[in-house]
Amino acid sequence: MRPSCDPSKFVADVMKEIPPSGIRRFFDLVSGLEDVISLGVGEPDFITPWHIREMCIHSLEKGQTSYTSNYGLPELRDELTRTYYRRYGLDYNPSSEILITTGVSEALDIAVRTVVNPGDEVIIVQPSYVAYMPSVILAGGKPVIVSTHRDDEFSLTAESLKPAITDKTKAIILNFPNNPTGAIMSKEELEDIADLVVENDLFVISDEVYECLTYEGKHVPLSSLEGMKERTVMLNGFSKAYAMTGLRLGFAMGSPEIIHSMMMIHQYCMMCAPVTAQVGAIEALRHGKDEMERMVREYDRRRHFIVRGFNRIGLECCNPKGAFYAFPYIGNTGLSSSEFAERLLDEKKVVAIPGDAFGEAGEGFLRCAYAASTNDIRKALDRMEDFVDGLKQ
Ligand SMILES: Cc1ncc(COP(=O)(O)O)c(C=O)c1O
Repeated sequence: MRPSCDPSKFVADVMKEIPPSGIRRFFDLVSGLEDVISLGVGEPDFITPWHIREMCIHSLEKGQTSYTSNYGLPELRDELTRTYYRRYGLDYNPSSEILITTGVSEALDIAVRTVVNPGDEVIIVQPSYVAYMPSVILAGGKPVIVSTHRDDEFSLTAESLKPAITDKTKAIILNFPNNPTGAIMSKEELEDIADLVVENDLFVISDEVYECLTYEGKHVPLSSLEGMKERTVMLNGFSKAYAMTGLRLGFAMGSPEIIHSMMMIHQYCMMCAPVTAQVGAIEALRHGKDEMERMVREYDRRRHFIVRGFNRIGLECCNPKGAFYAFPYIGNTGLSSSEFAERLLDEKKVVAIPGDAFGEAGEGFLRCAYAASTNDIRKALDRMEDFVDGLKQ
């Protein structure tokens, strides 16, 4: 008989450095509980608009089920070129400067792997989306953390970036509008960052997946600033703006050199993004503006509602100007983020994500997605008010 073995010895050492997701832990706690209201998931509560689903169904009926070009369907890349030219005057060549990916998640992974050599430092701005740190570690890079603060409404200042830059710094990962803080950056603020990036000869991976969910002012793509196009790869996708999370479609736009290298990884690990989703994305870009704007107006209403609600119940909340997350301060309750979120779930059956899941700078905060119905948000706020009142007694 052949001897059994411990399979964990086959797991690569680098996996030990990957922290467990602070969000996933909460989903595990929720499973099996009834009457739970979730402000936990970063996912639209809308279904993908019908005209987009219809095009996907139609393409399946026609038997459009084969691989596409590694770069993605040419019609989709053409449509993206037109869209970004129309929106911002950006000029990306559809043949060489756009890659269609399986969500921003894949685009992030392959962008980091394209840019990072072992030992390179990559600046991550926290509180941050949970995938940045693992992506850098898995690529052999060293994450260097820069924190944003509620006094600056969580926007990034060039001053706070400066001390983190060393001669090993290769790139910065930026994400505005931001998950989890809802912060956006003005053109002037981005210009300061761009100056610093150029002075230090850095590259930027700019995750702009919440671009269309900008409620105040106009989104400014980093690549639209002078001298930044060739220093930036913009990651973006259809999950949030068009409520297409499960269709898994994203894209990257950047210089031919970066996009070609990303495509080299993509062709071996993914081959191409799912064709049905690509067909849906073409429809979204061609005819999805009205529906998308309707959803954004609805998020905006909920945004005002939830921020007013938090401030009323004594959880100070700055105004998130983008994405669909409120990030109230709970530090004055005497509980840590994790204690607050765990007890809130246990005692009031409301799911919110503790801010420290997004890095140490998130300690003292709670991430609440307002991509839930107004009714659920109202109920969650009532329960949170009870909870906070209970803490005072
Ligand atoms: C900032 C950010 N980037 C990327 C993603 C992943 O997006 P996708 O569904 O396109 O993979 C998310 C999802 O929550 C996100 O919040």
